Amino acid sequence: MSATEQQPSTADSDAVSIYEVSLRDGLQNEKGVIPTEQKLVLFRALADAGLRRIELTSFVSPKWVPQLADAKELLAAVDAGPGMTLSALVPNAKGLERALGTGLHEIAVFLSASETHNKKNVNKTIDKTLHIFEEIVPPALEAGLRVRAYVSTVWGCPYEGPVDPARAIAIGKQLVELGCYQISFGDTIGVGTPSQTRDIVERALDALAPEQVALHLHDTRGTALANIVTALDMGIRQFDASVGGLGGCPYAPGAAGNVATEDLLYMLDGMGMKTGVDLNKLIEAGHVAERVVGRPLPGKVHKAGPFKRRGGVESAD
Ligand code: HMG
Ligand code: MG
Repeated sequence: MSATEQQPSTADSDAVSIYEVSLRDGLQNEKGVIPTEQKLVLFRALADAGLRRIELTSFVSPKWVPQLADAKELLAAVDAGPGMTLSALVPNAKGLERALGTGLHEIAVFLSASETHNKKNVNKTIDKTLHIFEEIVPPALEAGLRVRAYVSTVWGCPYEGPVDPARAIAIGKQLVELGCYQISFGDTIGVGTPSQTRDIVERALDALAPEQVALHLHDTRGTALANIVTALDMGIRQFDASVGGLGGCPYAPGAAGNVATEDLLYMLDGMGMKTGVDLNKLIEAGHVAERVVGRPLPGKVHKAGPFKRRGGVESAD
């Protein structure tokens, strides 16, 4: 059975798939470069908690993102357990060349729904970026990698303000037609509200199947969980998250971290959803993340701890 076949089925209405981005989205935004050894310590804590989809790093230019320049060394050192899917960002042919043969199960291509953020982030127009993806997605698939895609700035752009959701969904559809199995729609700077999320998800579900839609919500203004509840009600079962709430985008000023994985898990557990992730161990991973970056992180549940529900899955032990 392949790694991806062992993940909770999104057709099962109470199974939710969490895609962990702290090692990539989180560490790319740290001021200093975290040593590879410390990244491994965090990886092991996340894997031990039961997270099975982990975005480890990026094969982007080390001049642009020096924090992730050790991508190859990290991949050579990680020990992916059974059923685990390891992923990394790939922006272009050079990135794909570096990623091949490293043991990755999938790659993630990325672009923005707004021109200015795309230009600041990858130094190209949206059209040119899509053209590059047309050149790299087919060989990646032929090499046996699955390909995920991000569409960023869907809820708003740090440079242009409001973004046309129809444009974002059209880009997502194009990427699915190219062979990407899932589109992670990003609230890159954390400006979204539930009514806006309802509109975006409705449009996404008009164009794509529910399992092709994931949400990647930075929690800058504290609305990520409200937006996730809205999307859960609409049948979305794939969410990106980052332990401790680590993260941001170095080319999106004002972006705080993603929704904290432990906060998301606490909520999902309490709603009776199934993720395969252990809350107590994930809380410990939140503490590990704090030690790795050397400062307190904004996630709430790793500080507050679990709460014992009568007959529930959580324990304060
Ligand atoms: P460029 O400078 O336009 O690239 O950068 P280029 O193709 O003109 O090449 C220039 C030099 O870079 C050449 O080297 C290339 O070989 C090298 P030189 O000849 O000068 O020695 N180069 C590379 N080296 C290693 N790996 C590569 C690579 N590509 C070129 N892959 C590029 C274009 C895309 C590379 C650059 O803009 C870049 O790396 N950007 C980084 C973007 C990034 O990582 N942003 C953060 C992640 S996105 C995000 O956080 C949002 C997300 O979380 C979703 C959300 O929140 O919404 C995903
Ligand atoms: Mg992000």
